[in-house]
Amino acid sequence: MKRTLKAVGVSIFLVVVLLVGFIGLTIGWQPFLGPRARPLTSRTFERTPQRLERGRYLADGLLGCMDCHSVRDWSKHDVPVVNNMMGAGDIFPAKGLPGRMVASNLTPDPETGVGNWTDDQLARAIREGIGHDGRALFPLMPYEDFRHLSDEDLASVIVFLRSLAPVRHSLPKTEIIFPVKYLIRSIPQPLTGPVPEPDLSTPVKRGAFLVAVGGCGDCHTPMKRGQPLKGMELAGGEIFEGLWGRAATANITPGPSGLSYYDEALFVEVLRTGFVKARKLSPIMPSWAFRNLTDEDLKAIYAYLRTVKPVKHRVDNTEAPTLCKVCGKVHGLGSQN
Ligand code: HEC
Ligand code: HEC
Repeated sequence: MKRTLKAVGVSIFLVVVLLVGFIGLTIGWQPFLGPRARPLTSRTFERTPQRLERGRYLADGLLGCMDCHSVRDWSKHDVPVVNNMMGAGDIFPAKGLPGRMVASNLTPDPETGVGNWTDDQLARAIREGIGHDGRALFPLMPYEDFRHLSDEDLASVIVFLRSLAPVRHSLPKTEIIFPVKYLIRSIPQPLTGPVPEPDLSTPVKRGAFLVAVGGCGDCHTPMKRGQPLKGMELAGGEIFEGLWGRAATANITPGPSGLSYYDEALFVEVLRTGFVKARKLSPIMPSWAFRNLTDEDLKAIYAYLRTVKPVKHRVDNTEAPTLCKVCGKVHGLGSQN
């Protein structure tokens, strides 16, 4: 009896040791401990006209805050905001997500919006992925990109949010399925030092920054189990299905199967209109938001895209979808890769 008990004790001990080692090496302890978060501060961002203007440019254009956090009519090519619901939040209308993702009401309404949240609660959510209630945000909210926003740009976005007309709009809570709900706790990373202005000294450097915070890669780099596929940066193939229909993202690298036939003028036109000559792009490609960008910024994005590694990967939404062995997705011309 004693010996059996001892054997059981030793086995339990071994299992625990193995489990501890396994968790340490694989997913880490964060899913059990809760996300890494810094304490909130009492900082506030002074409302200045310059910040308001810059904040509008960023939030209602490049960064897409008003794309996801507004109620929109996806049946129209320019995806307009409906019923003055700018910034009032919505359930994210995509299929295939691990749960119900609710982009919150960001207007200053005190009950259903962010009227009672502090500037630093917003700042921490935007760049560090911690919700106002301390939870880890699902990374569909692109906080990993926004991490690169300078302190001044962050302040500008928040000053803009404070200027929105308050809209009373209650939404259900985000509900993420098990085990994703716990796994995402390892994603948020606190920022404890200042984030300086980016280097915008050449068009290519400016473009690199705009592409990083503008989320081109979030859609245009194919993913596998939530991770970008190595060597396939900006090479397209990721599938987006929802109120806009079904579309695979395009290969926007410079190679023959990418944007080789583009010139700067065509690129600017496509990003402003959502049309490649006569071909209409799916509205999930947010040209209706990028059209607000200045010529200088759009040209810088193009200049940067010319410098990235060309990837051989044919994607064409006008062809019947077939399985692609390069990216593992089912998209037009997939079988020819
Ligand atoms: C691709 C869609 C998308 C974009 C772009 C986006 N968000 Fe979000 N955002 C979400 C979703 C979805 C959530 C909810 C995530 C969750 O509940 O886990 C969220 C959550 C938030 C929260 C946290 C709300 C809370 O409960 O504490 C804030 C604040 C926020 N977003 C602000 C912004 C701002 C500001 C921008 C632009 C700089 C932005 N978002 C861009 C989709 C988006
Ligand atoms: C929310 C996802 C999403 C984001 C963000 C996004 N795109 Fe797209 N993009 C798409 C999809 C989907 C298509 C394919 C649309 C189609 O074929 O109907 C596309 C198509 C394009 C095309 C047209 C290529 C062709 O077929 O000729 C260009 C150019 C492009 N995107 C550039 C960009 C750039 C640059 C950025 C960042 C500034 C960006 N996209 C951000 C989803 C996205």
